[in-house]
Amino acid sequence: MVLNQLPEWHALEQRRDALDGQHLRELFAADPDRFAQFSLRHENILLDYSKNRVDAATMEALRALAGACDLEGWIARMFAGEAINLTEGRAVLHVALRNRANTSILVDGEDVMPGVNSVLARMRDFVARVHDGNWTGFTGASIRDVVNIGIGGSDLGPVMVTEALKAYRQANINVHFVSNVDAAHLHETLAGLDPARTLFIVASKTFTTQETMANARAARAWLLQTLGDEAAVARHFVALSTNAAAVGDFGIDAANMFEFWDWVGGRYSLWSAIGLSIALALGMDRFEELLDGAHAMDRHFREAPLEGNLPVTLALLGIWHVNFLGAESQAVVPYAQNLHRLPAYLQQADMESNGKSATRDGDFVAWDTGPVIWGEPGTNGQHAFFQLLHQGSRLVPVDFIVAANSTYPNDAQHEMLLANCLAQSAALMTGKTGDEARAEMAAAGLDASEIERLLPHRTYRGNQPSNTLLVETLDPRTLGALIALYEHKIFCQGIIWQVCSYDQWGVELGKQLAGQLLPRVRGETADGTVDASTAGLLAQLRHWRG
Ligand code: F6P
Repeated sequence: MVLNQLPEWHALEQRRDALDGQHLRELFAADPDRFAQFSLRHENILLDYSKNRVDAATMEALRALAGACDLEGWIARMFAGEAINLTEGRAVLHVALRNRANTSILVDGEDVMPGVNSVLARMRDFVARVHDGNWTGFTGASIRDVVNIGIGGSDLGPVMVTEALKAYRQANINVHFVSNVDAAHLHETLAGLDPARTLFIVASKTFTTQETMANARAARAWLLQTLGDEAAVARHFVALSTNAAAVGDFGIDAANMFEFWDWVGGRYSLWSAIGLSIALALGMDRFEELLDGAHAMDRHFREAPLEGNLPVTLALLGIWHVNFLGAESQAVVPYAQNLHRLPAYLQQADMESNGKSATRDGDFVAWDTGPVIWGEPGTNGQHAFFQLLHQGSRLVPVDFIVAANSTYPNDAQHEMLLANCLAQSAALMTGKTGDEARAEMAAAGLDASEIERLLPHRTYRGNQPSNTLLVETLDPRTLGALIALYEHKIFCQGIIWQVCSYDQWGVELGKQLAGQLLPRVRGETADGTVDASTAGLLAQLRHWRG
């Protein structure tokens, strides 16, 4: 099946042509019910997608494309534990990690739920012991600082969630994250920490990731420098991994390993043992509320018809933007300072999943796939990149995310935040016409020639698409649902684009080359066959390194 030769694809090209030249302002003027027609609710999450260049026929045509791609069949296959990670021959079952209904889910004939529940119970026990001081370090002192060492999916999700839910954090415990192999990250994190009261979590699905292992070894050396005895490692290191053998080789006791499974993708793993840092930061009850919210979204995704389905709708709008309106990127702008790592988290979730150009059948795609994901919190973004959104030459769809209620006391500031969020999506949508700009400048007393000179600079085309995700409060359950919403959006888009969303072969080449270059950086091997640019850089850096 060639996607862009489907009749449903051609129907969408026709919808694009039919809507061409119609401004969002006109669409709103023509239909007073536009918000009601193009908004959806799931629990306390409202998706307003009325500020997109779509009409009812376009949404219908997008859903027809989803039908032609058998989206509902693929959803069923994922939830049934089929090996839909085709290039690695694995099931894709992050939904099992938060299957709060506890119904059995089979992988190769075996129910995965007893294993999931048993790890959750072990996490609960461990978190309680750390929090109440019963888990002590080697000297008998209780734990005050936890350092999660991991990278990619073993870092970004936990960092994002613990930052997002800072308002719910546990007293008396500080959770830190070290990901970069740049020694600065570990060094600056450990500065001021007391080894006797520090617990390291080595989080790595494979337990072979170069950066994580280097940081873990350096952390162990730092610990032993003070505590002296190798036996201290057992009290100060736990591992989160699928690779028991490598964990043992590192010297971490099997009793201190929290396992997960190969059917959990790295960037979908915050719901697994990889979430231990979240549970330590917020408490196990909060972690389970996060799972509850995600599970509720899973049920919605699985059960709601396509037209009322939030992840499907978000995904189809993304397809519309990328494949029919030519958008190359997607901005994510949370109006929530604590969601400041959400864009980075979504960069991995989305771009490592759908940044592909081989189809499931191994052909080269003849259509665009995953967009560049980027963003920063509002209102900060307004004073930085919003200029381009308002008056730049590109189409950049924006997801605005905002909570009606703050989890902090200063409500007057929250009102300002809300007003800014609503103002930005409205401004992007309506823009400012030449006549409006002229009238404004005339009212400000500018003379006619000055008005005409400034006019091109002071008009706004508008017609810039955006979604607004308005939530009641950014609490653990809501955040869980929000993350699951994006996960499923990514899934739907991968199915329609026909890419393998659950592998990441694209990151391997760089890893291989880094392995080959390390001895050259160290000066242990001659430059040999490296290209002229790399050879020149190696020569200069060796010179400067003496
Ligand atoms: O390099 C990419 C990647 O494999 C990600 O997919 C993954 O989240 C990250 O590295 C870390 O992997 P691990 O958890 O095995 O250390």
